[in-house]
Order: sequence, then structure tokens, then C-alpha cells
Amino acid sequence: MTINILDSKNSILNKFISEIRDVKIQTDSMRFRRNIERIGEILAYEISQTLEYKKNSVSTPLGTKIIGLPKKDIVLCSILRAGLPLHNGLLNYFDDAENAFISAYRKHINETEFDIKVEYFASPDLDNKILILADPMLATGQSIINVYEGLKKNGTPKEIHLACIIGSTEGVEFIQKYFPENTKLWIATVDNHLNNKGYIVPGLGDAGDLAYGSKL
Ligand code: URA
Repeated sequence: MTINILDSKNSILNKFISEIRDVKIQTDSMRFRRNIERIGEILAYEISQTLEYKKNSVSTPLGTKIIGLPKKDIVLCSILRAGLPLHNGLLNYFDDAENAFISAYRKHINETEFDIKVEYFASPDLDNKILILADPMLATGQSIINVYEGLKKNGTPKEIHLACIIGSTEGVEFIQKYFPENTKLWIATVDNHLNNKGYIVPGLGDAGDLAYGSKL
């Protein structure tokens, strides 16, 4: 797996990451969702530079121009519910992608232990496609692995891109054992601590709650 940590060089991305982390600014849920979406757009731009392009002829009112365009073989898959604004950001750029949605949630056994339950599943055929799997918070890595295991029954992608926002060092190390060689991880930033509830520290808190409100 190739790992790309985007905040290793300074860019405007840092501002969006800083705003989703900031305990005051993140309470504005519309801004929080929009910042996640903006980060999704930056991840999409980075991923786009590694795709296969095909020459196309474009007619303008004054002539024609040959332009390399990405091949239309992308499937964008997001994990409900926190993945939704990230999905939107990726889809803003890969607007002709096919789409897949999977639900994954933590079913707590006790205060600190939980299983990941994958329930809702809607995905097109993945054989020979480019799979972009979006998961904003790569904490333990369990959700993204469970989702990938679920997706396998719909085919074998020719390459996989994991689009994430904040990861833990532990989660990044853990998932490397499960994804094939042709996987690229694109992650905005990585923190080095996971607490005993599986939350990334300093992280940002609960991304799903910040985007869509708290749940029971
Ligand atoms: N999911 C979140 O929303 N936040 C974390 O820190 C970990 C998982």
C-alpha cells in the first residue's frame, strides 16, 4: 500500500483541517459539513493525478482541442453516515462516478469494546473498476476493513484508493495488512493516539454527530 499524508506539505487544506478540529468552529454543522466536502475535493484532485487518462477531442465554437480526460470507470463508496459529506466532495470532482453506500456502526459490548456491524449495502459491479473508498475517520481501521470485505462479493477492483481525513498511526499501520498492493491511502492528516474508546486524539470528536447531530 502506498501512503500519502497530505498535510506533510503546507496548503490551504490545513485551514479546513484546523476548522473541523476547532472545538468552537466545529459546532457550526453547516460549516463542518462544507469543510469535510472541501477536503473531499482536495483528495479527489490528488487522486485524479494518478488515474489513467484517454485523449478526447473537444469542439469549441472556434475549433477543436485534444484533451486528456480520466477514464469513466470509478466507483465511489462511502460509509454511512459520517462519510456522506466526504462523498459529496469527491463526487463534485468525479461527477460521473458510480456510487456505493454501506452502513457500518460500532455495536458496543461494553464501555471500551465494540464490534463493527455492516448492514445496509448498495454497490454496483466492482470488477476491473477503480474503487475509491471514503472513510473520514480512520481510527482503529476496523470499519474500513469490514466494509472492504463486504464489497469483495461485488467484484475485484483494478485499483483501490482510500480517501480519509484524520487517521491514527495505529489504524494506518493496521489496515496495511488487509488491503492489496495496488491500494493507495490518501489521508489529510494522522494523529498518534487512540483513546480506550477508539477515538482519535486530538482528532475532532465524533464526525457523524458533528455533521448530522447526536444519536441515541
Ligand atoms: N469516528 C469518529 O467520528 N471519531 C473518531 O475519533 C473515531 C471514529
